[in-house]
Amino acid sequence: FSAFLTDSFGRRHSYLRISLTEKCNLRCQYCMPEEGVPLTPKAKLLTTEEILTLARLFVKEGVDKIRLTGGEPLIRPDVVDIVAQLHRLEGLRTIGVTTNGINLARLLPSLQKAGLSAINISLDTLVPAKFEFIVRRKGFHKVMEGIHKAIELGYNPVKVNCVVMRGLNEDELLNFVALTKGLPLDVRFIEYMPFDGNKWNFRKMVSYKEMLDTLRQQWPELEKLPEEESSTAKAFKIPGFRGQVSFITSMSEHFCGTCNRLRITADGNLKVCLFGNSEVSLRDHLRAGASEEELLRIIGAAVGRKKQQHAGMFNISQMKNRPMILIGG
Ligand code: GTP
Ligand code: 5AD
Ligand code: SF4
Repeated sequence: FSAFLTDSFGRRHSYLRISLTEKCNLRCQYCMPEEGVPLTPKAKLLTTEEILTLARLFVKEGVDKIRLTGGEPLIRPDVVDIVAQLHRLEGLRTIGVTTNGINLARLLPSLQKAGLSAINISLDTLVPAKFEFIVRRKGFHKVMEGIHKAIELGYNPVKVNCVVMRGLNEDELLNFVALTKGLPLDVRFIEYMPFDGNKWNFRKMVSYKEMLDTLRQQWPELEKLPEEESSTAKAFKIPGFRGQVSFITSMSEHFCGTCNRLRITADGNLKVCLFGNSEVSLRDHLRAGASEEELLRIIGAAVGRKKQQHAGMFNISQMKNRPMILIGG
């Protein structure tokens, strides 16, 4: 495995998350402020060619999974083409997308033909009116349609990301669990995380332990599944149910020790940690004509600076970071 993608703690970074756009067709409260965020001028965003050049380089060095994020990745006009081109890269085993689901039912057949192998869909409530409150736009039925289309086309599991926030949707956990009875879903309850402009506070966060207690009261037979290597999620299953439920415990029990992720932002920065604020512009080096070797040295140096773990929830809630919309999760 590439020394450039191995950090000083021996973690091998074989999973690259690429943000395809800063734009989104929703305005989720936990992701950005109501007024939106200032966007990078188009000339400073990565072109499709630049994205593919970088992807090729990372895959050559050992990345075997790429996830496309945003903003909302499915509003980039050439997303299907990007997936098709990534699909040609030898060594890349998984191409995933994390989407809000609005355009999914329409695009999924072509995305699947192009080689998309994994789908994660954000859905924080099963109540249409609440959906509009949380995401500040309409679209609940489109998202549900997207989820069903993904199941119909054979994605298994279809991962559903549910950010749990006190006073908003923590009363819906059991309804989400019920969905996994007949559907091949992995419903992932995510601890609410702080990012610039999302008004996070400790009281709004519902911890893994608290969520697990709620589930156990109703379903004492809930069974923990074996840990998947470098997964963000702790998985559980109710015997007899088709799907499963998981918890993403970034705040109460971080999983930095097995982190294998790197990120490229839509404006071309390499971000080695979701909660790190040191970034390096790969775009500028590419545009200055850097050779592959030079790029790899720059990438290697950034990976080498990656911290052992994030700084703890209170520190990260104070630090300067990007808003989530400009990171992509
Ligand atoms: P898989 O690739 O299917 O394992 O999904 P994922 O969990 O890596 O990615 P997804 O985009 O579905 O994100 C789900 C949640 O996990 C979001 O809240 C992300 O912000 C969070 N997440 C993703 N990667 C990391 C990470 O490296 N560290 C932390 N702390 N959280 C992450
Ligand atoms: N805390 C936790 N998860 C978040 N996501 C977006 N913002 C936050 C936050 N503040 C999740 C969304 C999306 C994924 C990329 O990140 O649910 O599915
Ligand atoms: Fe990796 Fe940083 Fe996430 Fe920890 S917080 S798992 S180091 S990206």
